[in-house]
Amino acid sequence: FSQDRYPHVKRGDYTSLDADHLNFFRGLLGEGRVLTKPEDCEAYNVDWIKNVRGYSRCVLKPKTTEEVSGILAFCNERRIAVCPQGGNTGLVGGSVPVFDEVVLSTALMNEIISTNDTSGVLVCQAGCILESLDSHLANHGLMMPLDLGAKGSCHIGGNVSTNAGGLRLLRYGNLQGSVLGLEAVKANGEILDCLSTLKKDNTGYHLKHLFIGSEGTLGIVTKVAIQCPPKPKAVNLAFLGERKYIILTFTSNCVDSFETVLKIVRKAKRELSEILSSCEMMDELTMDVVVSHLKLKSPLPQHPFYMIIETHGSNENHDEEKMNTFLQNIMDEKLVLNGTATSEVSKMKNIWDIRERITEALDRDGYVFKYDISLPIQNFYSLVPAMQERLGTSAKRICGYGHLGDGNLHLNIIVGEFTQDILNKIEPFVYQFTSQLKGSISAEHGIGFRKPKYMHYSKSETSIRLMKELKVLMDPRGILNPYKVLPENK
Ligand code: FAD
Ligand code: MLT
Ligand code: ZN
Repeated sequence: FSQDRYPHVKRGDYTSLDADHLNFFRGLLGEGRVLTKPEDCEAYNVDWIKNVRGYSRCVLKPKTTEEVSGILAFCNERRIAVCPQGGNTGLVGGSVPVFDEVVLSTALMNEIISTNDTSGVLVCQAGCILESLDSHLANHGLMMPLDLGAKGSCHIGGNVSTNAGGLRLLRYGNLQGSVLGLEAVKANGEILDCLSTLKKDNTGYHLKHLFIGSEGTLGIVTKVAIQCPPKPKAVNLAFLGERKYIILTFTSNCVDSFETVLKIVRKAKRELSEILSSCEMMDELTMDVVVSHLKLKSPLPQHPFYMIIETHGSNENHDEEKMNTFLQNIMDEKLVLNGTATSEVSKMKNIWDIRERITEALDRDGYVFKYDISLPIQNFYSLVPAMQERLGTSAKRICGYGHLGDGNLHLNIIVGEFTQDILNKIEPFVYQFTSQLKGSISAEHGIGFRKPKYMHYSKSETSIRLMKELKVLMDPRGILNPYKVLPENK
């Protein structure tokens, strides 16, 4: 099946599973943690946006690092391919097998090991669900340093392996900064203990970085130590409606009214400064998809663009005053058409629901071509009208939203059903456009199965060669997440 679907990818020379292999896994994990029935394996074979699928007939559910080590040592020796999987919310096809790779799911590795109220360091197993960790930390006056729409399903190990960004990276930074240490199992089963909980530790190479963002190709993350910030005592949220951005050319700066958006971002960064926690945007067609498919209500009448500005702070009066002054200033300067601000928990949740559930609404709209681009902030939205112009009516919907404060645009193109013809119109154009503007072809979702052959648009030949050398060093038999991340040798 996959061979027809992905004609450009050939199954590697990996050993197919037989009864003896399954008996070994059952001996190691017990009968109940080795899934082999097609109906039990189905959900592990299909990705969240149903873009890709594999046909694995074996899902393994270890509970401990030692069990992961036992599985990998066995698979490495026999050259059995393995696909690591967390919450399976990845958006680039990295989390599901391509052919019959064994799925190693971290779903049962969900133990919280320690929480230090003073240092704010949390240590836990890789399969803990992000939202559960955040709820746990709330009891300690702390929070997770990342938040994303998939929080109810994604695992911290998956977050680390994709170096997930999310809604508040602007304030709390990326996981390369917040992960203090981790434990990982190498392809040959060796356990690598880099689980430092120290803030400062410059003793040689920072090996943890090999695993943060390498999408399961260099090892399996089994435990993480994360620096968690205090939970804010005061939260404020503003939802703004704006006029249309007029984009004159693709390569020069977006001008005229996009300048007003840039002014808002600049002002938000300077006037809200240390309390600014999020700066997001969505366009009209994105709002439309959420309102139509999820029946959520927009807090504002229709506008071409919307922005979310959030603050996290420790003093309600101070923060509210700052937010109000900021809003008054942008209104006085006529930078926005309309806006609403709140610090009421339920109202804030309604607004965040609109933003966080965009992915789900788009999924209900049709087949989704999803692009996750970093662009210089002055060119932030330029790809959307360029694509609208290029595709005309051959797409059902072409919309943009994303992490404006971080220059990360999500371009989504929805069609009734997948055709190669439309894909050829989108790719490689979307990547060439991004590369010309010196952007990144993957800001936060990763490379996975969908994008390896386009990596050169963002990475030099020398960088790609070094990545391949690292892969050979870490996983000489190539068993970990094959067909993903690294481009094939031509
Ligand atoms: P999976 O999808 O299971 O796996 C992702 C990759 O990591 C795969 O390559 C897999 O092989 C590997 N992997 C998983 N666990 C391990 C492990 N323990 N060791 C080694 N490799 C492993 N992403 C963002 O960056 N920002 C967002 O704002 C964002 N919002 C999202 C909203 C929605 C509604 C959805 C569906 C997805 C969103 N994503 C976002 C994408 C996705 O949620 C993230 O990439 C997330 O970090 C993936 O975590 P996961 O546990 O689901 O990993
Ligand atoms: C988001 O910011 O909502 C996520 O990255 C998911 C997506 O791009 O759809
Ligand atoms: Zn995102």
